[in-house]
Amino acid sequence: MSTQADATPSNHDLPDYAAMPRLLVGQKALVTGANSGIGRAVAIALARAGADVVVNYVVNEDAAQDVVKEVEAAGTRGVALYADVSKEDDVEKMFQQALEAFGTLDIVVPNAGVQRDAPFTEMTLAQWNTVLGINLTGQFLCIREAVKEFARRGVRKEVSCAAGKVVCIGSVHEVIPWAGHVNYASAKGGIQMMMKTLAQELAPQRIRVNAIGPGAIRTDINKSVWSDPDGYAGMMSLIPYNRIGEPDDVAQVAVFLASDMSDYITGVTLFVDGGMTLYPGFATGG
Ligand code: BGC
Repeated sequence: MSTQADATPSNHDLPDYAAMPRLLVGQKALVTGANSGIGRAVAIALARAGADVVVNYVVNEDAAQDVVKEVEAAGTRGVALYADVSKEDDVEKMFQQALEAFGTLDIVVPNAGVQRDAPFTEMTLAQWNTVLGINLTGQFLCIREAVKEFARRGVRKEVSCAAGKVVCIGSVHEVIPWAGHVNYASAKGGIQMMMKTLAQELAPQRIRVNAIGPGAIRTDINKSVWSDPDGYAGMMSLIPYNRIGEPDDVAQVAVFLASDMSDYITGVTLFVDGGMTLYPGFATGG
Protein backbone atom coordinates (compact mmCIF):
# COMPACT_ATOMS: atom_id res chain seq x y z
CA MET A 1 0.00 0.00 0.00
CA SER A 2 1.42 3.39 -0.91
CA THR A 3 1.65 5.83 1.94
CA GLN A 4 1.24 9.57 2.02
CA ALA A 5 4.68 11.05 2.58
CA ASP A 6 3.30 14.05 4.44
CA ALA A 7 0.09 15.53 5.76
CA THR A 8 -1.02 17.13 2.48
CA PRO A 9 -4.76 16.41 2.26
CA SER A 10 -6.07 13.78 -0.11
CA ASN A 11 -9.56 12.33 -0.03
CA HIS A 12 -8.58 9.32 -2.10
CA ASP A 13 -7.55 5.79 -1.20
CA LEU A 14 -4.51 4.74 -3.19
CA PRO A 15 -4.26 1.49 -5.17
CA ASP A 16 -2.36 -1.48 -3.78
CA TYR A 17 0.40 -1.37 -6.37
CA ALA A 18 2.51 -3.90 -4.43
CA ALA A 19 -0.04 -6.57 -5.40
CA MET A 20 0.37 -6.10 -9.17
CA PRO A 21 1.44 -9.06 -11.37
CA ARG A 22 5.10 -9.84 -12.15
CA LEU A 23 5.15 -8.91 -15.84
CA LEU A 24 8.92 -8.54 -16.34
CA VAL A 25 10.46 -11.75 -15.02
CA GLY A 26 13.98 -12.25 -16.40
CA GLN A 27 14.24 -8.83 -18.06
CA LYS A 28 17.09 -6.36 -17.54
CA ALA A 29 16.40 -2.67 -17.11
CA LEU A 30 18.28 0.59 -16.71
CA VAL A 31 16.63 3.62 -15.08
CA THR A 32 18.33 7.01 -15.02
CA GLY A 33 17.99 9.35 -12.07
CA ALA A 34 16.84 6.33 -10.10
CA ASN A 35 18.04 7.43 -6.69
CA SER A 36 15.05 9.68 -5.97
CA GLY A 37 11.51 10.61 -6.90
CA ILE A 38 9.86 9.00 -9.92
CA GLY A 39 13.05 7.19 -11.00
CA ARG A 40 13.38 5.50 -7.61
CA ALA A 41 9.76 4.32 -7.69
CA VAL A 42 10.16 3.05 -11.26
CA ALA A 43 13.33 1.11 -10.40
CA ILE A 44 11.65 -0.58 -7.45
CA ALA A 45 8.44 -1.34 -9.38
CA LEU A 46 10.41 -2.89 -12.27
CA ALA A 47 12.22 -5.09 -9.73
CA ARG A 48 8.95 -6.12 -8.08
CA ALA A 49 7.73 -7.06 -11.55
CA GLY A 50 10.76 -9.37 -11.86
CA ALA A 51 13.44 -7.30 -13.64
CA ASP A 52 17.10 -6.82 -12.74
CA VAL A 53 17.70 -3.07 -12.52
CA VAL A 54 20.59 -0.67 -13.04
CA VAL A 55 20.03 2.28 -10.71
CA ASN A 56 21.74 5.30 -12.28
CA TYR A 57 22.66 8.32 -10.16
CA VAL A 58 24.79 11.44 -10.53
CA VAL A 59 24.69 12.72 -6.93
CA ASN A 60 23.95 10.98 -3.63
CA GLU A 61 25.33 7.49 -4.17
CA ASP A 62 24.00 6.42 -0.75
CA ALA A 63 20.43 6.98 -1.90
CA ALA A 64 21.17 4.89 -5.03
CA GLN A 65 22.55 2.08 -2.85
CA ASP A 66 19.32 2.20 -0.78
CA VAL A 67 17.34 1.70 -3.99
CA VAL A 68 19.62 -1.24 -4.87
CA LYS A 69 18.73 -2.77 -1.49
CA GLU A 70 15.02 -2.38 -2.27
CA VAL A 71 15.57 -3.99 -5.67
CA GLU A 72 17.37 -6.93 -4.03
CA ALA A 73 14.61 -7.20 -1.42
CA ALA A 74 12.26 -7.81 -4.37
CA GLY A 75 14.40 -10.84 -5.26
CA THR A 76 16.17 -9.50 -8.36
CA ARG A 77 19.61 -8.00 -9.02
CA GLY A 78 20.40 -4.32 -8.63
CA VAL A 79 23.51 -2.33 -9.40
CA ALA A 80 24.11 1.38 -8.84
CA LEU A 81 26.01 3.08 -11.67
CA TYR A 82 27.24 6.66 -11.84
CA ALA A 83 26.75 8.78 -14.96
CA ASP A 84 25.98 12.40 -15.73
CA VAL A 85 23.52 11.64 -18.53
CA SER A 86 24.33 14.90 -20.31
CA LYS A 87 27.89 13.63 -20.94
CA GLU A 88 28.44 11.22 -23.80
CA ASP A 89 31.51 9.56 -22.24
CA ASP A 90 29.71 8.98 -18.95
CA VAL A 91 26.71 7.45 -20.69
CA GLU A 92 28.83 5.15 -22.91
CA LYS A 93 30.79 3.97 -19.88
CA MET A 94 27.62 3.35 -17.86
CA PHE A 95 26.11 1.20 -20.61
CA GLN A 96 29.36 -0.78 -20.92
CA GLN A 97 29.25 -1.42 -17.17
CA ALA A 98 25.56 -2.32 -17.32
CA LEU A 99 26.19 -4.87 -20.08
CA GLU A 100 29.12 -6.32 -18.12
CA ALA A 101 26.89 -6.66 -15.06
CA PHE A 102 23.73 -8.05 -16.68
CA GLY A 103 24.87 -9.41 -20.08
CA THR A 104 22.19 -7.49 -21.98
CA LEU A 105 19.36 -4.96 -21.55
CA ASP A 106 15.68 -5.19 -22.48
CA ILE A 107 14.28 -1.96 -21.01
CA VAL A 108 15.54 1.61 -20.65
CA VAL A 109 13.73 4.32 -18.72
CA PRO A 110 15.39 7.68 -19.36
CA ASN A 111 14.01 9.63 -16.43
CA ALA A 112 16.70 11.95 -15.06
CA GLY A 113 15.43 15.51 -15.11
CA VAL A 114 15.85 18.86 -13.40
CA GLN A 115 14.19 22.27 -13.31
CA ARG A 116 16.08 25.58 -13.41
CA ASP A 117 13.22 28.05 -13.50
CA ALA A 118 13.40 31.74 -14.39
CA PRO A 119 11.33 34.39 -16.16
CA PHE A 120 12.34 34.37 -19.84
CA THR A 121 14.51 37.51 -20.02
CA GLU A 122 16.29 36.52 -16.81
CA MET A 123 16.99 32.96 -17.87
CA THR A 124 20.70 32.41 -18.31
CA LEU A 125 22.24 30.34 -21.07
CA ALA A 126 23.59 28.07 -18.33
CA GLN A 127 20.05 27.42 -17.04
CA TRP A 128 18.86 26.73 -20.58
CA ASN A 129 21.79 24.42 -21.39
CA THR A 130 21.62 22.51 -18.11
CA VAL A 131 17.96 21.64 -18.54
CA LEU A 132 18.20 20.81 -22.24
CA GLY A 133 21.42 18.87 -21.60
CA ILE A 134 20.02 16.62 -18.86
CA ASN A 135 16.34 16.40 -19.76
CA LEU A 136 16.59 16.07 -23.57
CA THR A 137 20.17 15.30 -24.66
CA GLY A 138 20.49 12.94 -21.70
CA GLN A 139 17.53 10.90 -22.97
CA PHE A 140 18.91 10.93 -26.52
CA LEU A 141 22.29 9.57 -25.36
CA CYS A 142 20.80 6.85 -23.15
CA ILE A 143 18.26 5.71 -25.72
CA ARG A 144 20.98 5.55 -28.40
CA GLU A 145 23.18 3.27 -26.31
CA ALA A 146 20.24 1.09 -25.27
CA VAL A 147 18.98 0.74 -28.84
CA LYS A 148 22.42 -0.35 -30.08
CA GLU A 149 22.15 -3.28 -27.67
CA PHE A 150 18.48 -4.05 -28.48
CA ALA A 151 19.26 -4.07 -32.22
CA ARG A 152 22.44 -6.11 -31.83
CA ARG A 153 20.66 -8.79 -29.84
CA GLY A 154 17.14 -8.84 -31.29
CA VAL A 155 14.15 -10.47 -29.62
CA ARG A 156 14.82 -12.61 -26.53
CA LYS A 157 11.75 -14.80 -26.94
CA GLU A 158 12.03 -16.25 -23.47
CA VAL A 159 11.34 -12.86 -21.87
CA SER A 160 9.49 -10.62 -24.38
CA CYS A 161 8.01 -10.41 -27.89
CA ALA A 162 9.86 -7.12 -28.49
CA ALA A 163 13.58 -6.58 -29.01
CA GLY A 164 13.53 -3.69 -26.56
CA LYS A 165 11.35 -1.19 -24.80
CA VAL A 166 12.04 2.51 -24.22
CA VAL A 167 9.89 4.36 -21.68
CA CYS A 168 10.77 8.06 -21.68
CA ILE A 169 9.69 10.07 -18.67
CA GLY A 170 8.22 13.23 -20.18
CA SER A 171 5.69 15.52 -18.51
CA VAL A 172 2.33 17.16 -18.98
CA HIS A 173 4.59 19.99 -20.18
CA GLU A 174 5.14 18.03 -23.38
CA VAL A 175 1.84 19.71 -24.32
CA ILE A 176 1.02 22.32 -21.65
CA PRO A 177 3.01 25.54 -22.10
CA TRP A 178 4.56 26.71 -18.80
CA ALA A 179 5.44 30.38 -18.29
CA GLY A 180 8.65 30.84 -16.34
CA HIS A 181 9.88 27.40 -17.37
CA VAL A 182 10.70 27.74 -21.06
CA ASN A 183 13.78 25.53 -20.80
CA TYR A 184 11.84 22.73 -19.10
CA ALA A 185 8.80 22.90 -21.40
CA SER A 186 11.05 23.01 -24.49
CA ALA A 187 12.94 19.93 -23.31
CA LYS A 188 9.73 18.03 -22.54
CA GLY A 189 8.13 19.02 -25.86
CA GLY A 190 11.34 17.80 -27.49
CA ILE A 191 11.07 14.47 -25.71
CA GLN A 192 7.64 13.91 -27.24
CA MET A 193 8.83 14.44 -30.81
CA MET A 194 12.05 12.49 -30.22
CA MET A 195 10.00 9.62 -28.80
CA LYS A 196 7.55 9.57 -31.74
CA THR A 197 10.31 9.83 -34.33
CA LEU A 198 12.25 6.99 -32.74
CA ALA A 199 9.09 4.91 -32.43
CA GLN A 200 8.57 5.30 -36.18
CA GLU A 201 12.22 4.61 -37.00
CA LEU A 202 12.68 1.60 -34.72
CA ALA A 203 9.34 -0.21 -35.01
CA PRO A 204 10.58 -2.44 -37.88
CA GLN A 205 13.24 -3.73 -35.48
CA ARG A 206 10.54 -4.59 -32.93
CA ILE A 207 11.72 -1.86 -30.58
CA ARG A 208 8.89 0.02 -28.89
CA VAL A 209 9.33 3.63 -27.79
CA ASN A 210 6.76 5.34 -25.58
CA ALA A 211 6.62 8.02 -22.92
CA ILE A 212 4.85 8.73 -19.69
CA GLY A 213 3.71 12.30 -19.09
CA PRO A 214 3.45 12.75 -15.33
CA GLY A 215 1.46 15.64 -13.92
CA ALA A 216 2.03 16.92 -10.40
CA ILE A 217 3.71 14.04 -8.60
CA ARG A 218 4.82 14.27 -4.97
CA THR A 219 8.63 14.45 -5.33
CA ASP A 220 11.39 16.86 -4.35
CA ILE A 221 11.20 18.68 -7.72
CA ASN A 222 7.93 20.40 -6.76
CA LYS A 223 8.05 20.08 -2.96
CA SER A 224 8.06 23.84 -2.47
CA VAL A 225 4.59 23.88 -4.11
CA TRP A 226 2.81 20.85 -2.61
CA SER A 227 4.21 21.26 0.90
CA ASP A 228 2.68 24.74 1.12
CA PRO A 229 -1.11 24.81 1.72
CA ASP A 230 -1.72 27.61 -0.82
CA GLY A 231 0.56 25.90 -3.33
CA TYR A 232 -1.29 22.63 -2.83
CA ALA A 233 -4.67 24.31 -3.29
CA GLY A 234 -3.39 25.94 -6.49
CA MET A 235 -2.24 22.56 -7.75
CA MET A 236 -5.65 21.01 -6.98
CA SER A 237 -7.34 23.68 -9.09
CA LEU A 238 -5.41 22.16 -12.03
CA ILE A 239 -6.18 18.49 -11.24
CA PRO A 240 -9.76 17.31 -11.86
CA TYR A 241 -9.10 14.05 -9.97
CA ASN A 242 -8.31 16.23 -6.96
CA ARG A 243 -5.30 14.47 -5.55
CA ILE A 244 -1.58 14.84 -6.04
CA GLY A 245 0.09 11.97 -7.89
CA GLU A 246 2.38 9.58 -6.05
CA PRO A 247 5.59 8.21 -7.64
CA ASP A 248 4.01 4.73 -7.64
CA ASP A 249 1.19 5.99 -9.88
CA VAL A 250 3.85 6.59 -12.54
CA ALA A 251 5.95 3.52 -11.75
CA GLN A 252 3.12 1.09 -12.42
CA VAL A 253 2.51 2.59 -15.85
CA ALA A 254 6.23 2.20 -16.59
CA VAL A 255 5.90 -1.51 -15.78
CA PHE A 256 2.96 -1.76 -18.18
CA LEU A 257 4.76 0.06 -21.02
CA ALA A 258 7.87 -2.08 -20.48
CA SER A 259 5.84 -5.30 -20.56
CA ASP A 260 4.25 -7.34 -23.34
CA MET A 261 0.84 -6.22 -22.01
CA SER A 262 1.47 -3.11 -24.16
CA ASP A 263 3.10 -4.94 -27.11
CA TYR A 264 0.99 -3.15 -29.74
CA ILE A 265 1.59 0.33 -28.28
CA THR A 266 4.39 2.44 -29.69
CA GLY A 267 4.85 6.18 -30.17
CA VAL A 268 2.44 7.40 -27.49
CA THR A 269 2.66 9.45 -24.36
CA LEU A 270 0.44 8.11 -21.60
CA PHE A 271 -0.40 11.05 -19.37
CA VAL A 272 -0.49 10.09 -15.70
CA ASP A 273 -1.84 13.34 -14.40
CA GLY A 274 -5.27 13.04 -12.73
CA GLY A 275 -6.72 14.92 -15.70
CA MET A 276 -4.33 17.87 -15.73
CA THR A 277 -4.22 17.78 -19.55
CA LEU A 278 -8.04 18.03 -19.78
CA TYR A 279 -8.13 21.87 -19.72
CA PRO A 280 -9.66 21.91 -16.21
CA GLY A 281 -10.72 25.59 -16.56
CA PHE A 282 -13.31 24.45 -19.12
CA ALA A 283 -15.16 22.41 -16.47
CA THR A 284 -16.88 25.63 -15.54
CA GLY A 285 -15.93 28.06 -18.33
CA GLY A 286 -15.87 28.24 -22.12
C1 BGC B 1 7.10 19.37 -13.06
C2 BGC B 1 6.47 19.67 -11.71
C3 BGC B 1 5.05 20.16 -11.90
C4 BGC B 1 4.27 19.25 -12.84
C5 BGC B 1 2.89 19.81 -13.16
C6 BGC B 1 6.22 18.42 -13.81
O1 BGC B 1 6.79 18.03 -15.01
O2 BGC B 1 8.40 18.84 -12.85
O3 BGC B 1 7.23 20.66 -11.03
O4 BGC B 1 4.39 20.19 -10.64
O5 BGC B 1 4.97 19.04 -14.03
O6 BGC B 1 2.94 21.15 -13.57
